[in-house]
Amino acid sequence: MQSEASLQLEWGLNQFNPWDRRITEENIWPIYRAMRQEGPVVHSEALGGFWCVTRYKEVRAAALDYRNLSSGHALEIGKQNWTDKPRTRLIETDPPEHTRQRKAMQAPILQKRMGEFSNGIRESVVDLLDHIAQLGEFDIVADLAEPIPQEVLGRILGFDEETRRRNRELVRKFVHADLETSEDAHGDFWAFLIETIQDRLRHPGEDFLSQLCIAEVDGQRFSESELVGMLHGFALAGHHTAIDAISSMLLHLSDDEVKFAYQDDPSIGTQIVEETLRIDSPIHLEGRTAMADIVIGDVGIPAGESVALLYASANHDDVQFENPEEFNPKRSANQHVAFGYGIHMCIGLHLARLEMNVVLEEMVKRFPSYRVTGSPRGTGMVFGHHMGWESIPATIG
Ligand code: HEM
Repeated sequence: MQSEASLQLEWGLNQFNPWDRRITEENIWPIYRAMRQEGPVVHSEALGGFWCVTRYKEVRAAALDYRNLSSGHALEIGKQNWTDKPRTRLIETDPPEHTRQRKAMQAPILQKRMGEFSNGIRESVVDLLDHIAQLGEFDIVADLAEPIPQEVLGRILGFDEETRRRNRELVRKFVHADLETSEDAHGDFWAFLIETIQDRLRHPGEDFLSQLCIAEVDGQRFSESELVGMLHGFALAGHHTAIDAISSMLLHLSDDEVKFAYQDDPSIGTQIVEETLRIDSPIHLEGRTAMADIVIGDVGIPAGESVALLYASANHDDVQFENPEEFNPKRSANQHVAFGYGIHMCIGLHLARLEMNVVLEEMVKRFPSYRVTGSPRGTGMVFGHHMGWESIPATIG
């Protein structure tokens, strides 16, 4: 495996390429640190050229500046990837389209609605822990973290059990696809999304997805392609992110010091959740496009250029966080940007936090002696934008 030093040396700081599959959970942090030291904004020549916003203060300011920094290319950075295909997913839209969609999409998962879901989430988690009790030896990722997000989302969207199962399988195939299988996996998943929306448009019921299909926002209904994009956003944006966050949390919690601190004082549960999100932010970066000549920090960026907001790097900035590389289960004032910031801040953040809190409580209650038994295997950087865990072998103890 490439060592940290040689990866940095080979690239140079102006060659940062998030699509490089040699990036790992270990070697990314020194790279970000060197970039922050270099400046608040560092230009990379990779992918046709783009600007990396590296430090906490500037990342927050840039995330707020949606007028000058468009999200039209949020999921792609670097000019060579750009296409003119219409973008209908919330994360890739700008106001006024963004405002319309966001209003409708966030309605069922606002903070005040969380009470409605907590029993259902607990039920799903307890079922999974029952299964793990029979296994004894288990994988934190495959046996616990992975099934949770789609189970929860399926319930919120109003999918019956069979549709939840189908959706879970298709999403799994989609996110694990390689070059050979990706065309089929994409095709099957999109076909499922289109079929689901068309079915709800023909026979709307009382469930949330049906209501979204017939909803009018500002006197206008959503088009079929907008609805498909919205469903896609729901199904995918909360999938790998929540899996990665739950897995990371259980990895940190398996450290006796952290576990004992929690058992001593369960009120630090929410701090453990936030510290996990800060130190192991699942989404490392999101893209923007400069709509005018702008200045970030003291660096001028010309109109039309591609910009990456390095959320994960910002969360390790020692100007904002004391001892940022240390997992502190009692960290206070933890204003991390793991959910982004500004108008595109994650709409699923309350749901994700609820999922994590429930898993934490139930896991420690049921298996207080659980521990990790082998080396965790990371995903490396996926799609140039997120990172998490493929496997964490464990035992209930
Ligand atoms: C720990 C779990 C999660 C993390 C770390 C996370 C992270 C993020 C981040 C960083 C953004 C901002 C993107 C940007 O600045 O361009 C975002 C946006 C978004 N997230 Fe999440 N997310 C999580 C869970 C979820 C869940 C559970 C859902 C759905 C139920 C969801 C749906 C979305 C959507 C639709 C957007 C786009 C919002 C917009 O553009 O206005 N996320 N998320």
